[in-house]
Amino acid sequence: MKAIQYSRYGTPDVLDLATHDDPVPGPGEVRIRLDAAAFSPIDAKLRSGALQAHFSLTFPKIPGRDGTGVIDEIGADVEGFSIGDRVCVAADPTRSGTYAEAVVCASQRVVKRPDNLSIAQAAALLQPGVSAWIAMVRTAVLSAGMRVLIHGGSGAVGSQMIQLARHLGLDVTTTCRAVNVDYVLGLGAHRAIAYDKDDFGTLRQFDAVFDVIGGDTHARSYPVLKPGGQLIYLTALPFRNDADHYGVTVTRATISDTPEALEAVAQLAADGVLIPGVIDTLPLAFAAGAHRRYEAGGLSRGRIVLTMREDE
Ligand SMILES: NC(=O)c1ccc[n+]([C@@H]2O[C@H](COP(=O)([O-])OP(=O)(O)OC[C@H]3O[C@@H](n4cnc5c(N)ncnc54)[C@H](OP(=O)(O)O)[C@@H]3O)[C@@H](O)[C@H]2O)c1
Repeated sequence: MKAIQYSRYGTPDVLDLATHDDPVPGPGEVRIRLDAAAFSPIDAKLRSGALQAHFSLTFPKIPGRDGTGVIDEIGADVEGFSIGDRVCVAADPTRSGTYAEAVVCASQRVVKRPDNLSIAQAAALLQPGVSAWIAMVRTAVLSAGMRVLIHGGSGAVGSQMIQLARHLGLDVTTTCRAVNVDYVLGLGAHRAIAYDKDDFGTLRQFDAVFDVIGGDTHARSYPVLKPGGQLIYLTALPFRNDADHYGVTVTRATISDTPEALEAVAQLAADGVLIPGVIDTLPLAFAAGAHRRYEAGGLSRGRIVLTMREDE
């Protein structure tokens, strides 16, 4: 099979197109003949070496967290899947990933593909969807009518947070660049603050803030919360915890590809609640270009998807 790989940490130039033997599923695993994979920021952070302290990689490393395809081989002791099933996969970041014509992974990392999604949308669903779901459903304590502020609403995670928040009956304010205001309102946000023109820090009385940005955005999010409000964050940037000073709680959402989260996200997509954004599709061989575009900045409105077949 063809796959993108890297054998040392570095710039996107370390990504090469290589040929590998097809992987063979072991007990509890399935092999998926992939149609498409999605670029995620963590793919670039792993490749650059920025996450060496957190993830131990074996080289050569095939990147890619998200993908979609068809099961074509099943290992021992796998239940609930058949050869020919169309599925989405959330690959383990430390193992061989989805920038390949095939991937093997534990069956618990696989869910049936929602039929209403295109192949590109299906490839872009799980990593941002699981992040949004764990932050909003398993980390925050929310009830219908609460006022939430979602930072980065035009990003892959933020856009699914907006969709999920509306589904939960929340009142949704979001931040993004001015050029993306119409996009996030179209996703269902009640109001959008263009962070390159206006200051979200003058807002007040939110029940919860969801932060995928960190740094200064994190620091300025405390005063917008009402007493007892919740600041939920995903980024790992160092920050000063001002929770006690403002009488709020601050919690890191611990993102993990649990079967419960994967199933919930797939079901929400099948129900038409979560529709992942796709900004471009490129052939697999152009993976380094996707990484360069991300690192150049300004990527928003969803994922770049890598397709394994020219006609996708
Ligand atoms: N801890 C975890 O396990 C975990 C899981 C998922 C994601 N993450 C992290 O969360 C971050 C977002 O992930 P993603 O996949 O959604 O990335 P993404 O698709 O690249 O989106 C990031 C968004 O941030 C927006 N943005 C940039 N600066 C901003 C600011 N100052 N205020 C508000 N919005 C701003 C951009 O929107 P504009 O173009 O409109 O500026 C962009 O759409 C990444 O750093 C990712 O690594 C962490």
